[in-house]
Formats: sequence, C-alpha cells, structure tokens
Amino acid sequence: MLVKIEEIRKAFEKDISSVKDRASLEELRVKYLGRKGQISSAFTLMPQVPAEQRKSFGQGLNILKNRIEQQYQALKASFEETSRDTGRIDLSLPGRKGFVGRKHPLVAVADEIKDIFRGFGFTVEDGPEIETDFYNFEALNIPKTHPARDMQDTLYITEDVVLRTHTSPVQIRVMQRQKPPIRMIAPGRVYRRDTPDASHSPFFHQVEGLAVGKDVTFADLKGIIQAFAHRMFGKDINVRFRPSFFPFTEPSAEYDFSCVFCRGEGCRVCKHTGWMEISGAGMVHPNVFRAVGIDPEEYTGYAFGMGIDRIAMLKYGIDDIRLFFENDLRFLTQF
Ligand code: PHE
Repeated sequence: MLVKIEEIRKAFEKDISSVKDRASLEELRVKYLGRKGQISSAFTLMPQVPAEQRKSFGQGLNILKNRIEQQYQALKASFEETSRDTGRIDLSLPGRKGFVGRKHPLVAVADEIKDIFRGFGFTVEDGPEIETDFYNFEALNIPKTHPARDMQDTLYITEDVVLRTHTSPVQIRVMQRQKPPIRMIAPGRVYRRDTPDASHSPFFHQVEGLAVGKDVTFADLKGIIQAFAHRMFGKDINVRFRPSFFPFTEPSAEYDFSCVFCRGEGCRVCKHTGWMEISGAGMVHPNVFRAVGIDPEEYTGYAFGMGIDRIAMLKYGIDDIRLFFENDLRFLTQF
C-alpha cells in the first residue's frame, strides 16, 4: 500500500514541473488537494489497508499531503510576486525607450552666451522682471515726459510699476550695489506691448552688458562685441556699428553682424544686404552715472544689449520667434 503513496508523489513531482501559469497551478491543486483529489481518494482506501500497515499508511499520506501543500503555496506565492511588479516577462518584446529631456534652445543659447562672457571676465547678474518706473526708465535718463518712452511699448501694472521693457534696469541695480570696476552681463526676459507675429512676441529675452572703469572706451566695446561674434558664429563674422540714439548711452550705436547664412555675400534672409541687425550699444550716459552716484568725471563705461531669441534664430536658422514659446515637442526635440 505504501507503493500507492510513492506513486502519487512521483506523479505530483512530474506535474508540478510543468506548471507554467496560474491556470495550470489551479489544475494541479484540484488534482491533488481537491475534495476528490488524489490525496482524498487515497484516504478512502484506508479500510482496505491491512490493520498493521494502517498507521504508517496514514502517517505517510499526511506527510505527502503537507509536502504537496507547501510546494503548491510556494509556487503560488512566486506567481503573485512576478505579477505584482512586472507581470510575466516576455523577452521577445522590444524594449521601451525612456524619454530624455533636454535644454530649451533659448536656454542652451543663453548658457552659451554666459559661458563666452564669463570667459571674458564678466559676472552674470540677475534682476526682477517686475520693475519700478525708476529702474526701467528714470535712472536710465528717460524722464516721464521724454519722447523716448514711446520707443518701447510698455506694459504697466500700476502707474509706477511696469513689466521691464529691457534688461537695462539691471545695470542700475548692479551699479547701486557695486563699485567700479564692473564687468557684468544680465540675461533675462523682457516684455513689450506687441502683437505676436513671426518676428514679434509680447515677451522675449535679452542680455545686457555693462563695463565700467577708469578708462573704458568705445574701442573696448567694439572689441568685446567683435570677440563675442567670433566665438558665437565663427572667425569670419564681421561686426559694424551704425550711429543711433538711446537716452542712456552717448554716443549710441546699433550693431550688426555679417549674415551668418551667406557669411556676408547677400541672401534672402539678410535681404541681400550681407548684414543682420543685432541690437544697440554705446557709452554710458553721464546722467546714468549720476543717478547711481558714480562720478562721470572719474569713470567711463560701455553698455550693450543683445537679443537671445534673435541669436538663437540665427544660430539654428529659425524663422518664427513664436516657435520658442509654443512648446511643441516636435520643434523642441530637434535641438
Ligand atoms: N536697452 C536697449 C533696448 O532694449 C538696448 C541697449 C542696451 C542699448 C544697452 C544701448 C545700451 O533696446
């Protein structure tokens, strides 16, 4: 009769080795541990077992029952574990590609500009985007009634508080807290009342530059802009200055780079002039120095602006500024 127990054990070992999912595990349980399963039916043979073997038959059957129960529970637990984290692993499935973020093109270009100017010994400064009339205009030699206020369409929060129209107010804040010599840039967002189109946006990005010292000259300004153009776009890029007007600089200029697409030959993008307008610059106006308590007889300085969006458009050949602000991943993932 003990042979019967051994038969069940062998059959069970064979069956459990071919269990591959929950369904076949359940079949295994019914077959061996169910009410009409192998173990139960073996117990029903008890009356036929010769009396002297009955005890060891019962014990053997109980030991087998426990062992089967244990193996069944262990396998069941391992199925639950795999389904809880990843499910069954299908090694033939192609891997899932992780999405890797990247810098926005404007951030990448701003970082590059910062690196270049840091290399020239400039510090990187910051200032508020919500400014008072004093910092955005007054201290920059733009009094309330000055017609130059019309040069920039300002977004007013109150009569005295504006969204800064340029990064020039950061010049004032730095000169108020720091004695010359000063060499700084201030990248950041600026706001103007503009209707969006391919080349206008109600907000965009500028880098302000300022250098103040004992004998800073216009030649230094030209040198630094030229050196920047070479680092940013290549050694064959020329820079030219045209006379212009800004209330906070005297003399003032607008500066151009030779077209980065045709390298100055003349093409559709530069309207066949060979040049691209970049921004304004000039020597710090004595009134600006006076507003921050720097003696204009002792110190001179230059200041310049630079459009980050514009530089990024030139660098990447983008013809619509709005693309920067729509956050279309098809656009952003190209950089
Ligand atoms: N702030 C000027 C603008 O936004 C640019 C500029 C900066 C001009 C510094 C001269 C000197 O138009």
